[in-house]
Amino acid sequence: MLDQIEQLRKNAEAEISSVDSPAALEAYRVKYLVRKGAIAELFDKLKTVPPPEKPALGKALNELRARVQELYDARNAALTAAPTRRVDTDLTLPGRRTFMGSRHPLMQTLDEVKSIFVGMGFGIADGPELEDDYHNFEALNFPPDHPARDMQDTFFISSTALLRTHTSPVQIRLMKAQRPPIRAIMPGRVFRNEAVSARSLAGFYQVEGLFVDRGVSFAELKGTLVAFARQFYGRDIRYRFVPSFFPFTEPSAEMYITCFLCKGKGCRMCKHSGWLEVLGCGMVDPNVFRNVGIDPEIYTGYAFGMGIDRTAALRYGVDDLRLFYENDVRFLRQF
Ligand code: DAH
Repeated sequence: MLDQIEQLRKNAEAEISSVDSPAALEAYRVKYLVRKGAIAELFDKLKTVPPPEKPALGKALNELRARVQELYDARNAALTAAPTRRVDTDLTLPGRRTFMGSRHPLMQTLDEVKSIFVGMGFGIADGPELEDDYHNFEALNFPPDHPARDMQDTFFISSTALLRTHTSPVQIRLMKAQRPPIRAIMPGRVFRNEAVSARSLAGFYQVEGLFVDRGVSFAELKGTLVAFARQFYGRDIRYRFVPSFFPFTEPSAEMYITCFLCKGKGCRMCKHSGWLEVLGCGMVDPNVFRNVGIDPEIYTGYAFGMGIDRTAALRYGVDDLRLFYENDVRFLRQF
C-alpha cells in the first residue's frame, strides 16, 4: 500500500503542471481531493490493513493529502491572479522604444563648421557675451551715430555694458592679446533686440573667423571660404561674392551659394532667387588694426562671420528658426 501512496503522489505532482484552466483544476480536485477521490479511497483501504501497519500508513496518507492540497492551492492562486494580465498582454505589439538622446542640431552644425576650419589650421577662441561699447562697436570702426548702436538693435545693460550683437568683438580681444600671425574662429551666442519671428530671433549663434599675417589677400579669403562651403554644403555648389559693407572690413562682401534645394532654379527657401546668402566677410579695415596696435602697413587680414541658426536651417530645410529653441522632442528626435 505504501507503493500505491507513492505512485499517487507522483501522478498528482506530474499532472498539476498540465492544469492550465479553472476547468482542468476542478477536474484535478475531483480526481484527488473530494470525498470519493483517489486519496479518500486509500483512506478507506486503511481500515483493512493489519493494526501494526496502520500508524505508518496513516502518516504517509496524511502527508500525501497535505501535499496534493498544497499543489492545488498554489495552482488555484496562479490561475486566479493570471487572467487580467493574460488579456492585457498583446505579444504582437511592437516593443517600447527608448530614445538615446542626441546632440542638438545647432550644436551638430557648429561642431561641423568648427571641425572644417580646424582642419584648415584655425584655432578656436571665445569672448564674453556681456560686452562693452568699445569692443562691440568703437574698436570695430562703427561711427558714433551708426544705426546698429541704436536702442532698437542692442540690448543695453547699462550705458556702457551691452549684450554683444555679434562675435566680431572677439576679434578685437584676440588681436589685443596676441601678435600676428593670428588664425582663429570664434563661435558664440549673440543678442539683438528684435521681434522674434520665423526668420529672426533675439538670441542666436554666430561663428566669426579671422586671419591676420603679412601678405594675406582677398584671393586667400575667397579660397578658404569656397573650400569651407564645398565641404559643408557639397562639392558641386556654385558661389558668388557680392560687394557689401561692414564698418570693420574694407572691401566687404557677402558670399552666396546656389540654393541646394532647387539647385538654382528658384524655390521658397531661396525666395525664388536661386541663391542663398551664407556669410559676410572682408579684409580687416586698417582703422581696426590701428585700434588694436597692429601696423596696417605690415599686416593685412581677412575676417568673416556667419549665423549658425540660419546655416542649420538652410542645411536641414527648417523653415522656422524658433523650432531650434522650443526643444520639442518630436522636433529634436529628427536629427
Ligand atoms: N558681424 C557681422 C554681423 O553680425 C558679420 C560679419 C561680417 C563678420 C563680415 C565679419 C565680417 O567678420 O568680416 O552681421
